[in-house]
Amino acid sequence: MRKALRWLGRVVGLIVLALVLAVGAVYALSAHRMARTYEVHRPVPPEATGPAAVERGHHVATIRGCNDCHGADLGGRTFIDDPLIARLSGANLTSGGAGGKLSDEDIVCAIRDAVAPDGRPLLFMPSTEFGHLSESDTADLLAYIRSVPAVQRALPPNRVGPLGRLLFLTGKLPLLPAELVDHTAALPSEPAPGPTAAYGAYLASSCAGCHGAGFSGGHIPGTPPDWPDAANLTPGPGGIGDWSEAQFVTLLRTGHRPDGSSVDTKYMPIALTRHLTDVEVSALYAYLRTLPARASGQH
Ligand code: HEC
Ligand code: HEC
Repeated sequence: MRKALRWLGRVVGLIVLALVLAVGAVYALSAHRMARTYEVHRPVPPEATGPAAVERGHHVATIRGCNDCHGADLGGRTFIDDPLIARLSGANLTSGGAGGKLSDEDIVCAIRDAVAPDGRPLLFMPSTEFGHLSESDTADLLAYIRSVPAVQRALPPNRVGPLGRLLFLTGKLPLLPAELVDHTAALPSEPAPGPTAAYGAYLASSCAGCHGAGFSGGHIPGTPPDWPDAANLTPGPGGIGDWSEAQFVTLLRTGHRPDGSSVDTKYMPIALTRHLTDVEVSALYAYLRTLPARASGQH
């Protein structure tokens, strides 16, 4: 009996040791990648000034999700707080916070490269969606960021939990967008704003984070298993290929589907898409029509 207990003790001890080593390895490997630094330089676009530029910049910040993560007043916002995954806040971009210390080039490098002034990769700042932002959109964003009143807000420090680190190491959570961006790529030519598929492709980078690079939907990377799958936006089976443009507009403005049901606005950000202009919605519709049909979740 005593011998059996001693064996059991050893087995439990070994399991605990293996767990401690595994968690230690996950922390060490992820910390190593977070500690890498990047040297980036970006030209600052010609300055845009005046109320029209500020208003356009506010619109771009709304539809691109900047306000969603950095707060409606850009004073910073904790958008995820989960002990296992992460606690992350979009920085305070006003002159009362980090924004006051950033040069225009620093802000451009944050947007395009997800890199901080000291070369540190910014956590979860989705530059994969913003790398191709046009010069004029970037200039308008700068005009807007510089125009907002100073906000004093204490944000809790960012931290990444064990599950967040494991998801990151297994490629399921884009924690360091700086690793995924080409820091030397020249800016692609700017599509002229208009109801065209080319302009729709430019805007749709903001949908791809959830609907997938091929827009076929499926599980959204890094979200809990109880989240609904993002919908298939291609003309494939289960997709929105047979929706009219009017039905597509209604969905983005109200969340109502053609069959009378509604999307869950907690997951599909209608608060953001309802601000898309008529031209932007037409451009998105035109672009989604050009996609090859894919089955749901086939990315
Ligand atoms: C998914 C959420 C998210 C979105 C969307 C987002 N950000 Fe961020 N951003 C962050 C987080 C989180 C940080 C801080 C990361 C860190 O400190 O490691 C950050 C950092 C920054 C910084 C750097 C601050 C510093 O101290 O160096 C700037 C500038 C910035 N974001 C601007 C923008 C702009 C402009 C947009 C829209 C085009 C935007 N962000 C969209 C999450 C987001
Ligand atoms: C934060 C993640 C997220 C972003 C960003 C996002 N979506 Fe969605 N979307 C979802 C989810 C999740 C659903 C499914 C919601 C449900 O079933 O209740 C959805 C549903 C939809 C639907 C309904 C389709 C159907 O068959 O029911 C359309 C259309 C749509 N999204 C278009 C877009 C477009 C266009 C964009 C970019 C402008 C976009 N979404 C950005 C998460 C997102």
